[in-house]
Amino acid sequence: MALWGGRFTQGSSQMFKQVNDSLPFDQVMAVEDITGSIAWANAIAKAGVLNEQEHVTLVDALQKLLTQAQAGELDFAASQEEDIHSFMEAALIDAIGDTAKKLHTGRSRNDQVATDFRLWTQRHINALESDLLNLIQALLKSASRFQSVILPGYTHLQRAQPIRYPHWCLAYVEMLKRDLSRLRDAKIRMDQSPLGCGALAGTTYPVDRQSIADELGFSAPCLNSLDAVSDRDFVLELLFCASTSMMHLSRMAEDLIFYNSGEAGFLKLSDNVTSGSSLMPQKKNPDALELMRGKCGRVFGHLQSLLVTMKGLPLAYNKDMQEDKEGAMDAVKQWHICLSIGVEVLDGLALNAERCRQAAQQGYANATELADYLVDKNIPFRTAHDIAGKAVLLALENHCAIEDLSLAQLHTVSSDIEQDVYAILALDHLVDKRNVLGGTGAQPVNDALFAAHEWLDGELTRQGDVDG
Ligand code: ARG
Repeated sequence: MALWGGRFTQGSSQMFKQVNDSLPFDQVMAVEDITGSIAWANAIAKAGVLNEQEHVTLVDALQKLLTQAQAGELDFAASQEEDIHSFMEAALIDAIGDTAKKLHTGRSRNDQVATDFRLWTQRHINALESDLLNLIQALLKSASRFQSVILPGYTHLQRAQPIRYPHWCLAYVEMLKRDLSRLRDAKIRMDQSPLGCGALAGTTYPVDRQSIADELGFSAPCLNSLDAVSDRDFVLELLFCASTSMMHLSRMAEDLIFYNSGEAGFLKLSDNVTSGSSLMPQKKNPDALELMRGKCGRVFGHLQSLLVTMKGLPLAYNKDMQEDKEGAMDAVKQWHICLSIGVEVLDGLALNAERCRQAAQQGYANATELADYLVDKNIPFRTAHDIAGKAVLLALENHCAIEDLSLAQLHTVSSDIEQDVYAILALDHLVDKRNVLGGTGAQPVNDALFAAHEWLDGELTRQGDVDG
């Protein structure tokens, strides 16, 4: 039964139900809807709308529904109800009859849905925080497993300077830490309760909105009823957080796809995150990583889609806003999947240290070092850069590395180059010279790994305290 049948003489068409009904997707907010209803029942009981008996009957029935919802026992598929709010009201009427019809006093589905969706979003943010921490943990584990591996670092996808593998891992740790803090920022802003704002102008019953907020775990009530029922910034922020993080994941996926390619050969992915070809028996394709990269498109799309939906909507609630859910729910699901598969990929990958080292040694990655060496000999950097460039040219002509040129050959580009240059050009030396804070030298990388582990331990303990 629709919640609004009184002023209608005809029922809805099947086609209208198809466009209008949200139960097929908002059923996932069942727990939040019931939790909100319990808080509302308490609030209107305190405001004198319900007597003691009615209050107890309602809350008992809602508690039973909550248990059923948590156990997945509610039969949404058989229901013709429009949305989760009408479904619950119908279920309540079925259970306790007329008393159930008092629950919606002073409330609108507009403040109800805004409350439900905020609670749903907060619940999923908590789960996504754990997912982010798990991936950070996997990156740190991988960094420790391959602590001594040196591979080429790239700019423009040209070999630029060698880096330690843990340094690469720590770059993504930084990104994921920002994703986590962005999500937490968003959570602070959505920490306000819309319940009691009614359809748009506030409710006429003297409910205590702060105690409703307290009961639902919000810090405070939303301060303006028009805004409270019209605001979907919290969904947009979630989608922006998801989009930015997915962008990070897609870059990580792209790096790994390239490292795994036959051309690079830096690593092997485990069988359990790859697939074969139906035609080419030799193939082992990095599908999990390609999907991490590929799923970005739809998540970015959901953000764009909701921005466009919200643009130009007049205050207050409009049914357009029902379009906020499917995209956000899909974004959360895809983000969760990608963070989780990222853990499996990292846990299973095997680096080929020798191949990484060989590649790091190729491509004249030590040309900057030669220039710096000449700077130490008091040659201005610009001139030193030119000399080092000429040494690269000479090595290219001789099909060898700079350090393979004899001193006599090097003297043709600069007489300032001496025997000690060879130690300077050695791979380990050039990596470990980058000892500045945040650099790829052994010292800063070990410091950064230590700091990241400490940070993660703190986070995991905190999370354990929250969960426990
Ligand atoms: N299913 C609706 C939504 O998700 C609930 C709010 C309905 N409000 C209304 N005034 N029709 O937005």
